[in-house]
Amino acid sequence: MKSDRTKELQRLDKAYVWHPFTQMKEWETGDTLIIEKGQGNYLIDTDGRRYLDGVASLWVNVHGHRKKEIDRAITSQLGKLAHSTLLGLGNTPSIKLAERLSGIAPKDLNRVFFSDNGSTAVEIALKMAFQYWEQKGFEGKKKFVAFTGAYHGDTFGSMSVGEIDIFVKKYRPLLFSAYRAPYPYSYRCPAGKDRSDCKTECLKAFEDILKKHSGEIAACIIEPMLQGAAGMIVSPPGFLKKVRSLTKKYGVLLIADEVATGFGRTGKMFACEIENVVPDFLCLAKGITGGYMPLAATLTTDKVYRAFLGKYEEYRSFFHGHTYTGNPLGCAAALANLDIFENEQVIKGLGLKI
Ligand SMILES: Cc1ncc(COP(=O)(O)O)c(C=O)c1O
Repeated sequence: MKSDRTKELQRLDKAYVWHPFTQMKEWETGDTLIIEKGQGNYLIDTDGRRYLDGVASLWVNVHGHRKKEIDRAITSQLGKLAHSTLLGLGNTPSIKLAERLSGIAPKDLNRVFFSDNGSTAVEIALKMAFQYWEQKGFEGKKKFVAFTGAYHGDTFGSMSVGEIDIFVKKYRPLLFSAYRAPYPYSYRCPAGKDRSDCKTECLKAFEDILKKHSGEIAACIIEPMLQGAAGMIVSPPGFLKKVRSLTKKYGVLLIADEVATGFGRTGKMFACEIENVVPDFLCLAKGITGGYMPLAATLTTDKVYRAFLGKYEEYRSFFHGHTYTGNPLGCAAALANLDIFENEQVIKGLGLKI
């Protein structure tokens, strides 16, 4: 039985809310589920029915809903400050979080640039990689190499390096072109191999691109170990490590988009750790706050950071920022999330043997 309140909310939702990735004509005729509460692994609708949150609220929820430590961290931060800009000012939780993230990220990734979502985390890495080379005097390095089936988000830069056709084809006239290398797909391998006899033959095409075009390529972007939106495609052992060594060999920066894989999703805190890979950029979002707040971070190295230093008039600054960059509530939630990982030994509990 649906309550009158639920019916009224459904009417208002259909009248006013435009849902993401949704054909709204179909939506208008559907029976909208309206979620009001969360508890542990469950979502609860306006009539009190419980649903297993199987998609973890789109791969963001890490420890369950209403995790008391995160609830408390946010309310405690709310008692001090909800927001203050990072443009010209610092704030306590963003400083602490930047230090914590650089402490748990693969080594050398100790510069943290905050934003709001996975797409912006990627957009920032793309812009930084492009600007890095320009400021190092390599003006020809303006392109990117990405993988088949990639999904990196919905802003123009992140769509340009993505390849899921239904999401990007309408916008293609507005996107920049990227070199495209095959992502390994052991289950439906085009070379007819399976995981047991895979020698990552598809890396040849990747190396050919680098061999021919590395003088034009600023960076390679990859979803390390697992392509999420493409259909949960797990890359064979050794693939990521070889991508890293080839990018190094050909002088191309590596952007690891760990928006989906970060924060324990692959059994390690970050998927890059599975093959001991240290990228030049690490893009984090989704699970960073345990699934509570829209926060993202792009981590990079001192080497990249230093290329942006100079006198203001040299215009080497990274001219990028979002109003809510480094939002204290989001950072407080993220700090509590990391505390839970530590206190509950979450990664150890996952028991991944590598
Ligand atoms: C690998 C990857 N990168 C980027 C994004 C975009 O993140 P957001 O939806 O927070 O912009 C996603 C979202 O699913 C993703 O899976």
